[in-house]
Amino acid sequence: MQVACPPETLNFLQTFYQENHLPDLEKRLEEVERCGFLPTFPELLYGAKLAWRNSVRCVGRHYWQYLHLQDARDLVSPSEVFDALVQHLRFATNAGNIRPTITVFKPGIRILNDQLIRYAGYEDGLGDPKNQSLTQQLMELGWTPPVQRSAFDVLPVALQVPGHPVQLFTLPEDAVLEVPIEHPTLEWFRDLGLKWHAVPAISNLQLSVGGIEYSCAPFNGWYVETELAARNFGDTDRYNLLPVVAEKMGLNIRKNRQLWKDRALIELHEAVLYSFDKAGVKISDHHTVAEHFERFCARERQAGREVKARWSWIVPPISGSTSPQFHQSFDDTELKPNFFPSKCPFH
Ligand code: ARG
Repeated sequence: MQVACPPETLNFLQTFYQENHLPDLEKRLEEVERCGFLPTFPELLYGAKLAWRNSVRCVGRHYWQYLHLQDARDLVSPSEVFDALVQHLRFATNAGNIRPTITVFKPGIRILNDQLIRYAGYEDGLGDPKNQSLTQQLMELGWTPPVQRSAFDVLPVALQVPGHPVQLFTLPEDAVLEVPIEHPTLEWFRDLGLKWHAVPAISNLQLSVGGIEYSCAPFNGWYVETELAARNFGDTDRYNLLPVVAEKMGLNIRKNRQLWKDRALIELHEAVLYSFDKAGVKISDHHTVAEHFERFCARERQAGREVKARWSWIVPPISGSTSPQFHQSFDDTELKPNFFPSKCPFH
């Protein structure tokens, strides 16, 4: 029996054929009407690229065409799924020359962790406070923290594969490249013992493409230094390091007008950029990213598309007014394909 092609599928296939100047859309639509929509590799890859292009919170979209796809839709067991995640991290890390990568699994699979690499947050305040509830859940699922706990204990990954109980997996060391943080001139910086992982791999968003919801489709780009320096290290509900750094710098943290927070932030940013460069790990700075985002917008306009963006995510958390985006406003409608919070529950 022939079923009409669902509008989202039709929309996506029209875009795919049109933007890639492909012939024979009619033939493909007939096939979809006969057998349902199972994206081909090129369709899925382009769909994932479009999901990136449409991500209103991403300032790094200039590179949307340079996405690698690992098609893992045929994997069925938890250990196969985990092996693919490890393979993803190794491929994406690429000894520091980070490759934007997405792995797509069969719908129904779920990862509990919001990123493949996350540091534990303990109840006594040690570690990354953002991950306290994740850490708690993982402990309830059977994880035991190391005897010598640290501020940077990599958490296991919790996988839910339909037909199997939830399973925890420990990432092998060689899949987690980390960068120790030091400062080009402030010698004491390295004694703070800070580090961060090279690859941010978001693992709790679902990829919506052509009417299909892929509940497990982890993806990564590379970092912008502000993400670590301003937010992860600087936020008061994260590692909260501004008072620590400012005091080491000899500033009076009771005097707002000494601008100790601002000065500490700048040193943290310089340290993060310096350390990643020294380690040969790709990282952007917020000024370059802002320029590239402008170029992305220009190219999109040329192609007849309006860029959707969320201002508060696109403008950097420091020196906002130095970025061209600060002086603009954006419509933040989320077009499809896109990445959305997963509707598939994790239990
Ligand atoms: N801000 C998040 C973090 O600090 C990562 C979000 C994705 N970032 C990226 N550059 N692709 O871990």
